[in-house]
Amino acid sequence: MGAKSGILESYGVDNTIKNLQKENKILLQKLQSQNRMIISYERKLASFDTVKEQRDWLLDEMTKKVGELSHFQTELFKAERLSAIGEMSARIAHDMRNPLSIIKNSIELVKLKYSEHISSDVYTLFTSIDNASSRLVFQLDDVLNFVRSSPLDCSQHSLGKILDSSIHEIVIPDQIIINKPNNDVQLFCDEEKIKAVFTNLIMNSIQAMDSHGTITVQFFESSDDVKFTIQDEGSGIPKNLIDKIFEPLFTTKSRGTGLGLPAVKMIIQQHQGTITVSNSPTIFSITIPKRS
Ligand SMILES: Nc1ncnc2c1ncn2[C@@H]1O[C@H](COP(=O)(O)OP(=O)(O)OP(=O)(O)O)[C@@H](O)[C@H]1O
Ligand SMILES: [Mg+2]
Repeated sequence: MGAKSGILESYGVDNTIKNLQKENKILLQKLQSQNRMIISYERKLASFDTVKEQRDWLLDEMTKKVGELSHFQTELFKAERLSAIGEMSARIAHDMRNPLSIIKNSIELVKLKYSEHISSDVYTLFTSIDNASSRLVFQLDDVLNFVRSSPLDCSQHSLGKILDSSIHEIVIPDQIIINKPNNDVQLFCDEEKIKAVFTNLIMNSIQAMDSHGTITVQFFESSDDVKFTIQDEGSGIPKNLIDKIFEPLFTTKSRGTGLGLPAVKMIIQQHQGTITVSNSPTIFSITIPKRS
């Protein structure tokens, strides 16, 4: 009896063990399949994260592009408007320039011929007409130079000589000192256009200093570039305006056209060069490659 029950017992245990092993095997299989599912979900999750990142990046890019597009549309609109204004101004400037030159030359002639026969009052009036017409001719030339961007006519030039001929053409107020560079450099450039660059920058400096102070011009040379700087003692350009000064028609002067610096920038770009400006002291720096 004892042995039988032992066998039965052992039979029962065996069965239990077998059942447990079976269950264990099933559980293991379930565990493995769940692990596989987890891995596959994790992979999907990872790729979902990547897709999410890509979507965010695309959204950012799209927002940027929409911004750029609207910026370019505004620029295009401005450019179209400017080109229409430009054409019209060029025509008006061109048509006005000749009669104005006749007025200017005639007044000069009258002053020269009849200076002994006219009273000082009338002479002063003639001088005012002369000055006003000179200013108008200068402004019209500004408009024409800006609108007609003619191709460069380059050859090798002494920058010192170009500077001298520019200074020669400007009426320099008595209380303005121009410190010219001690050295000279040679530059392959369009003489007339670089002269216009000097004239515009020096005129701006004279106006910025209210006609008294020192303007310093310096020349530098490296193996590849020529650099020149024009420095003045004026109060400089307010920070919020510094990005605007090269925009056409931007001026803070009651008698300004706002075409001087855009024309200067255009000329420097035609020479493959760059122009920068810094404050305290105000320095305009121009760099032009030696053979552009
Ligand atoms: N040296 C300078 N110091 C301070 N501000 C300057 C200087 N040069 C230029 N600016 C600022 O930049 C603006 C634009 O200059 P820009 O030469 O283009 O036009 P403008 O001198 O006003 O008119 P114009 O067409 O007669 O030259 C000026 O009105 C002035 O506010
Ligand atoms: Mg100017």
